[in-house]
Amino acid sequence: MFDVVVVGSCMIDFVSYAPRLPNAGETIHGHTFVTNFGGKGANQCVAAAKLNAKTALIARVGDDVWGPKYIENLKTQNINIDYMKITENSSSGIAQINVADNGLNQIVIVAGANQFLNSTDVENAKELISSAKVLVMQLETPVDTAIQVMRLSTGISILNGAPGLTEYNKNLLKLPSIFCVNENEASLFTNLPVNNLKEAEVAARTLITKGCKSVLITLGSQGAIYLTNDNTRPIFKATAPSVKSIDTTGAGDAFIGALAFCLAKFPRSSIEKCIQAACIVASDSVTRLGTQISFPGVEILERIKDFFEEE
Ligand code: RIB
Ligand code: NA
Repeated sequence: MFDVVVVGSCMIDFVSYAPRLPNAGETIHGHTFVTNFGGKGANQCVAAAKLNAKTALIARVGDDVWGPKYIENLKTQNINIDYMKITENSSSGIAQINVADNGLNQIVIVAGANQFLNSTDVENAKELISSAKVLVMQLETPVDTAIQVMRLSTGISILNGAPGLTEYNKNLLKLPSIFCVNENEASLFTNLPVNNLKEAEVAARTLITKGCKSVLITLGSQGAIYLTNDNTRPIFKATAPSVKSIDTTGAGDAFIGALAFCLAKFPRSSIEKCIQAACIVASDSVTRLGTQISFPGVEILERIKDFFEEE
């Protein structure tokens, strides 16, 4: 039985580091370029695997130079790749990422093979999916696939609503145990401004009204808020340790991977503790460049173990 099963995306990240983000129509000089393995699905899976969760990734890569390399990367990280597929006549997913020296980023993705992750892929991995302790999905792969996957879940399901949508099938919000988004995505899904904690709370309540069982909104350096549809339970606010941020790309993925790890490994612990622990892992990841390569390994468990002492 797997702790964490992720059904989602793989991208090759082409990352340019520059003094600041360019404005529309502007060309600026960057100072560093790197190519990394990324994509929200794989990132979240790697984040959980690096903490020592037993993980599997169900995803598609292209039949270009990157596809086989990507699968090899997952294997090196100890992730089960039985249901990874190389898609013929398709490029791997690509992400063009700009990171400013203050740590902010902007990303354009071209889904490539990710858009072909379909019901047959889900059907093939049905047993693996339905027996997962924690199931994780995002929206860089088709929405219908995510919906089909969530219907198979018997454990905890986390849908990361990223990238955000303004129009969507209502089941997207209703099916997952936890609907997790950042400020931007919360704003898109609710059509409300989400620029501060107060507005995030309003968005969380709106998402509950729209049918979410529980909502988790990540707020970067401000931590995260968590609200359930049990109206006797107050909103929970997790804080993030303050760190020197150099690259926030994939911090949300580190958060979700760590959350999935904690929920799977410490099932008797409260979700609030798991969220707090995930904030520590995500904050640590922003102190290093890149996504997967910046996620902490088991050494970070020393810093979160206090939350789970009774286990
Ligand atoms: O969440 C970060 C990820 O988003 C990057 O790795 C990039 O691939 C995009 O999918
Ligand atoms: Na990072």
